[in-house]
Amino acid sequence: MNTIFSLRSLVGAIWVGLALGAGHAQQPAASATLTIDPSQIVNPVSPTLYGLMTEEINHSYDGGLYAEMVRNRTMHGSWSGPEGWTVVQHGGSAAALEVDRTTGPSAALAESLRVKVESAGESGAVGVANSGWWGMAVRPRTTYHGSFYAKSEGEIGPVSVKLINDNTGAVIAKAEVPLRGSSPANGWSRYEYTLSTGDVTPSTRNHLELTVSRPGTLWLQLVSLFPPTYDNTPNGNRIDLMERLAAMHPHFLRLPGGNYLEGDRIADRFDWKKTIGPLVDRPGHQAPWSYWSTDGLGLLEFLEWCEDLKIEPVLAVYAGYSLHGEHVTPGKDLEPYVQDALDEVQYVTGDTSTKWGAERAKDGHPAPFPLHYIEIGNEDQFDKSGSYPARFAQFAEALHKEYPQYKLIATTPVTETEAAAQPDVIDDHYYKSPADMFALVHHYDDAPRTGPKVFVGEWATRSGTPTPNFGDALGDAAWMASMERNSDLIVMASYAPLLVNVNPGAMQWATDLIGYDALNSYGSPSYYAQCLFSAHLGDGTAKTSVNGAGPRFFYSATVSSDTHTLHLKLVNASNLPQPLNLSINGLGTGRHTAEVNTLHAATFEATNSITNPDAIRPVVSTLRFSGAETQHTVAPLTIEVIDLPLKLSIEATR
Ligand code: AHR
Repeated sequence: MNTIFSLRSLVGAIWVGLALGAGHAQQPAASATLTIDPSQIVNPVSPTLYGLMTEEINHSYDGGLYAEMVRNRTMHGSWSGPEGWTVVQHGGSAAALEVDRTTGPSAALAESLRVKVESAGESGAVGVANSGWWGMAVRPRTTYHGSFYAKSEGEIGPVSVKLINDNTGAVIAKAEVPLRGSSPANGWSRYEYTLSTGDVTPSTRNHLELTVSRPGTLWLQLVSLFPPTYDNTPNGNRIDLMERLAAMHPHFLRLPGGNYLEGDRIADRFDWKKTIGPLVDRPGHQAPWSYWSTDGLGLLEFLEWCEDLKIEPVLAVYAGYSLHGEHVTPGKDLEPYVQDALDEVQYVTGDTSTKWGAERAKDGHPAPFPLHYIEIGNEDQFDKSGSYPARFAQFAEALHKEYPQYKLIATTPVTETEAAAQPDVIDDHYYKSPADMFALVHHYDDAPRTGPKVFVGEWATRSGTPTPNFGDALGDAAWMASMERNSDLIVMASYAPLLVNVNPGAMQWATDLIGYDALNSYGSPSYYAQCLFSAHLGDGTAKTSVNGAGPRFFYSATVSSDTHTLHLKLVNASNLPQPLNLSINGLGTGRHTAEVNTLHAATFEATNSITNPDAIRPVVSTLRFSGAETQHTVAPLTIEVIDLPLKLSIEATR
């Protein structure tokens, strides 16, 4: 007895050592049996399980998805002057730049960049340059649309606008913009220009110059330049990034983010009414991730982004708590914020006979947007004043009264709230190391099914930077398998953060799903894992059992009842092959061919990057089943998504 016991422990210890990477031998782990009965559905899978969550972090919008090429187009000044702008003085010309706080084209943009030209040299080029968001992406045979607001004193114009290569000084594209002499009341006018490139090599090493050739004073504000955008939407988004988001097969967009909703102080919250309407009427605001947001991507642009991807917004409303600890006292003080939320829902969903629906139509979108979920606040467990239950109740009561059809999401449990103001859904967030993510996979298995549903509104396995490595992708895949298994409870889930500009100084959060610079973008291994899981998801979880698998083996088996397909996801996060006896009840005799998408890397640390974007990508192959039982080995450090066509009837057992 004792001998058997100690032998077992020894074998176990060796196995664990190998599985954790202590050994490099490739002997397989013990064979496991995975039995699946696709005709027995034990849980429904939420049709909205996978979605997107973003916010202005890591230059996700300004310097990211929002296609504006000009950095700090609204001349926001810091102690070092307006970031991104420098003086251009060619051939002995002289000019001085200053942020002028006394004049601007609108009440929202009441400041401007003053360019005082003392002398224009022989070459006649004096003015300003903008470096872009760590460069400006220039592509061959492409038309760029630009505009600016200007006011002038003296015969200083016309303004010459040029895209110039940083390395060679070559002018890549140019336009001449005559200035109108005497301008309207406040002296400001809006000008448009177009820049078209020829056969240039794509690069980011370019900048924009606006110059004049005569002395005088020129004031500039809202200097803008856009490349072609996704769906050709004016004021729209980068094509490559939108295509990457579409490939994730998302069902919703949680907007306008986590901390970005709250702001550091109440005054810095996402004040949606200041983010709509003409760009010149948007003041911008200090975002919590240490930089200024122009709000060019404002509430309507978020909604249009949803529309472009054919997904729904999950609308997060500011709920009276900001990150540095300020909160609004529930009751009278909170009323204006509750009213703002009601107005916001009306802006999103109201028809044009409503005040805010009409405002949306005026902003260019008469049709209302679909909506099912409203989230009240973000991570309110950090509000140490304990005011969230009462704040939540006040918002919930008002929203329920006016919009009983929408489901309300609380950001932390609010058990002490009256039953009528109970949330429909709780938003849970998880940021974990790979080891901790593997350990978390049974978290929801025994969670009560009688209370609110769960929205995993932020989650990520984090160790790689700036984007997740393959070990993180394995953690993510294990976690997604567990969310699919528990998707009767988990109605939605969104990875965070989604986007990162990988240039030095652009990033605030160390592990982010998709990386980019001004010209190129790439998907991390975790990105590809998510694309695969989301694109191959059934509507029910099949009855399964597993015996003898190693501790770092994870799986999910869902069935699409319409196409009669079993989607089997296998995750081997150990360094050993995992042999499996796959037994699929009811598959029947004969041969069956499954499509397999495999994501694999040699090490945990292996990754993709801006310079090596395709190191790890899914590879497609086939797997043949002969009868209901098949021997299949999942290679070490491997994620497989197997689609097996079924010929059987599917029954829900719950
Ligand atoms: O995703 C980054 C941040 O993490 C979010 O802004 C916040 O909600 C969470 O703490």
